Formats: sequence, structure tokens, C-alpha cells
Amino acid sequence: MVDTRPILFFDSGVGGLSVLAPTRALLRQAPFVYVADSAGFPYGTKTEAEIAARVPALLGRLAERYRPRLIVIACNTASTIALGAVRSALDLPVVGTVPAIKPAAQASVTRAIGVLGTDATVRQPYVDDLAARFAGDCLVLRHGSAELVTLAEDALRGTVAPPERYRAILAGLLDQPGGDRIDTIVNACTHFPLVADQLAAAAPRPLTFVDGSAGIARRIAYLTRDHEWPERAGPGRAVFTGAGAADDTLRPALARFGLAETESL
Ligand code: DGL
Repeated sequence: MVDTRPILFFDSGVGGLSVLAPTRALLRQAPFVYVADSAGFPYGTKTEAEIAARVPALLGRLAERYRPRLIVIACNTASTIALGAVRSALDLPVVGTVPAIKPAAQASVTRAIGVLGTDATVRQPYVDDLAARFAGDCLVLRHGSAELVTLAEDALRGTVAPPERYRAILAGLLDQPGGDRIDTIVNACTHFPLVADQLAAAAPRPLTFVDGSAGIARRIAYLTRDHEWPERAGPGRAVFTGAGAADDTLRPALARFGLAETESL
């Protein structure tokens, strides 16, 4: 019997596509279901209690519906708050997405890095822990931006904001005391790599942007190294928890990520 079980990607919106892309490139035959919790979007302005109550319960229902072989929480906010709870609730491998502070510290020459995430992510003890473990000799500044999440959602729908908007968001990091030393910025929200070019173009000086997506893709490939795959992956499916989220403005971008079918729950 051919194993047709998909890999299920999960995010509040389109951000997880930044993790899906390098994973598809590595696993050409893998079937994918991409779930955007559009009914719960955005996550970054929610409380820890709201995320902790919502995400494990929803993923439990999605696991029953789609019977995935592996789940990827392609969202830093959900992962830094609820990864442990999801892992203990589900009898499946669950891969999380956490801020790429380690590679940023390895890349930084000035030993000053910025962590750009959602408001909820940048205040997590998980981030304190990553900074202490992997960037102990670095100044680690943080900034949360709900606006950048919206700009990324808009960009995927074909509306690109002017550079000033991106520059003002970067100023939230660079204008902090010590921010003038930052040479490396962690895109600690999966939405942000989708607008990495716009961020780099708007930056007041050359900055290196890092994110964890390539490493997560390699981890998924490693965890599924012994799996059997269908001969052809077939069209990927994008699922939205809210009605109307997959409107015509988003469909071309979804198709570019291999998601030709859409469904609203
Ligand atoms: N893409 C998500 C993350 O990585 C969150 C975006 C949001 O819903 O605020 O944190």
C-alpha cells in the first residue's frame, strides 16, 4: 500500500509558506497540507493563555481530519508557547519553529543581533533561554511587530508597502540603545522571510537577515528519511479555518507554493 499521508504545515496565516518552500524543494514527492488558522489570526497580539488553549486543540482536530505523518508548526509564536503541549497531546512527530538565534550569533561580527518577531514571541522565556545558550557574548535586542505580519500577508496578496514602512519597523530595533552595533537580524516570525527583500532594501545600512527555514526543512527531511512516498506528490492543499480567507488575490501566491487546492473549514 502506498503511503499517501501528508506532511501538515500549520501557521496563523501565510507565514508558514516560508518553511514550506525549502521543504518542498527537498521532498519532491511529499504530499502537503498547509493549514492557516485564519479564524484565529493574528497570533502575535494574543495572550499566552489564548495561544495555549487554541493551538493544541486545533491541531488535535486537524490531525484527526488529515491523518498527517508529521506536523510542522511553522509559526514561532505558536511554537515558543505551545510546542510542548502539542507534542504531549499527539502521537506524531511534531517539528517546531523557534527563533534562529544560534545561526545569527554565529554570523554576527559586531556581536550585536536583533530579534524581530511578534509581540508574543519576543517576550517568551524560550527566547531568553536561546539568547543565554547561544548568544551569551552578544547584545540581543528584540522588537515585536504586528504591522510586519500584516505587510507580509498583503505582499503575498500582491500589495507591497513603501520602504518607509519597513524602515520604521527596523528602527524599532536599530534605534534602541546599542542598536547601532547590530549587524544581523533574526526573522523570528515565519511571515518575515516572505518580505526579507523589502526589509533588506529598506535597511539604512547593510544587514544580514537570518531565519530557520532551511534548517527546519533539513530536519523534516531527516525525520522522514525512511518514509515511503507516493510516486507523485499531487497538488498541495491550502486549508483556512475561516471562510473566505483564500480569496482570488491569494490564489496565485498559493499556486507558486504548490498549493493548487483550497478548502475552508
Ligand atoms: N507567523 C507567525 C509567527 O511565526 C505569527 C504571525 C501572527 O499571527 O501574528 O510567529
